[in-house]
Amino acid sequence: MVIVTGGTGYIGSHTCVELINNGFEVVILDNLSNSHESMLDAIEELSGKRPTFYKVDIDDSDQLAAVFEKIGSKAESVIHFAAKKAVGESVQEPLEYYRNNLDSLINILVEMGRHQIQNLVFSSSCTVYGQPDVCPVTEETPRKEAESPYGNTKSICEDIIRDTSKAQSLNAISLRYFNPIGAHESAKIGELPIGVPNNLVPYVTQTAAGIRKELTIFGDDYVTDDGTCIRDYIHVVDLAKAHLQALRKLEAATSESSYDIFNIGTGKGSSVLDVVKAFETATGVSINYKLGPKREGDITAVYADTTKANTQLNWKAQLGLEESLKSSWNWEQNYRSRNT
Ligand code: NAD
Ligand code: WQD
Repeated sequence: MVIVTGGTGYIGSHTCVELINNGFEVVILDNLSNSHESMLDAIEELSGKRPTFYKVDIDDSDQLAAVFEKIGSKAESVIHFAAKKAVGESVQEPLEYYRNNLDSLINILVEMGRHQIQNLVFSSSCTVYGQPDVCPVTEETPRKEAESPYGNTKSICEDIIRDTSKAQSLNAISLRYFNPIGAHESAKIGELPIGVPNNLVPYVTQTAAGIRKELTIFGDDYVTDDGTCIRDYIHVVDLAKAHLQALRKLEAATSESSYDIFNIGTGKGSSVLDVVKAFETATGVSINYKLGPKREGDITAVYADTTKANTQLNWKAQLGLEESLKSSWNWEQNYRSRNT
């Protein structure tokens, strides 16, 4: 059995579908602070099995202990997605981010120790690299001081896991996701940003859908080929599959304790203008956009060297930028048609 925290969220829901389709028994823990219980219906529809669900605040140690009393003895592994993830909000409410993201991880590690659960996959982020001196970044590239409290929680969580693996029986993997985009091919699950999206791709799809008047491209004089920022956009289904491979690696481990880190991206950098063009090509829909000022805190370029995941996790991204954007568009259209 695998305990999936944050399993009703964007990346968690896609991962649950992959896990169940590959024979894993899944139990989801989520407080629904950024997701909906109806996601369980969609996961059931796509996988043929409804995961067991506990509504629980993972940062509340008593609540979590009570849930682990019920399920802890049956679980071999935990995938820990649950976290707050809005970069701008974390600048406004740093303590809320440190409390939620750090306490949740600590509570999970305590319960894993109590119930002798050995395997942990953790959601980290390319944000830990900050603005790297050289691209692509490998797992050996030094981390930089975080640009936001959110980013700092990821760096601190990585260190908490590393240190805990030296002190208790724990095999853990941190996956550093680059920029997750896209949706399941069914368009039944996808990303649901609340309010005005901060991230590029939801902003693009909402502009295409006429919900936003125009996209502002943040900065056009960066030192890149076309002047706009470069990122590594990874399809969420490819990302979900990386968790399966990480879990398989952990379950096959013979060591008492270990800690490893993997970059999960495509290995290809795309500029903001590349994204707009690829969206237009993939969907045939034009994007109304203007060039605007830089956004504070944005870095010029980051993309992954994925050699380590390719060789040691036996994982490689299969889906390209256009396929990813097409799936985001299908999800946007399907969601709007059901909810307007
Ligand atoms: P999401 O918000 O869709 O999912 C997170 C889930 O965790 C939500 O369902 C939320 O309700 C739940 N949650 C949050 N705090 C909780 C708590 N205290 N107790 C119980 N449940 C709680 O986010 P996502 O995009 O699916 O991200 C999943 C993970 O991946 C997060 O850790 C995030 O930081 C990390 N990550 C995301 C991205 C990205 O761009 N989406 C990039 C890198 C890393
Ligand atoms: C991508 C590019 C923007 C919106 C964030 C987090 C990071 C990670 C992934 C969790 C940038 C540009 C955006 C818009 C634009 N999350 N842009 N107009 O900032 O790379 O990463 O999500 O760990 O920690 O910081 O992603 O999608 O916001 O931006 O021009 O309206 O699109 O400037 O170059 P980002 P993003």
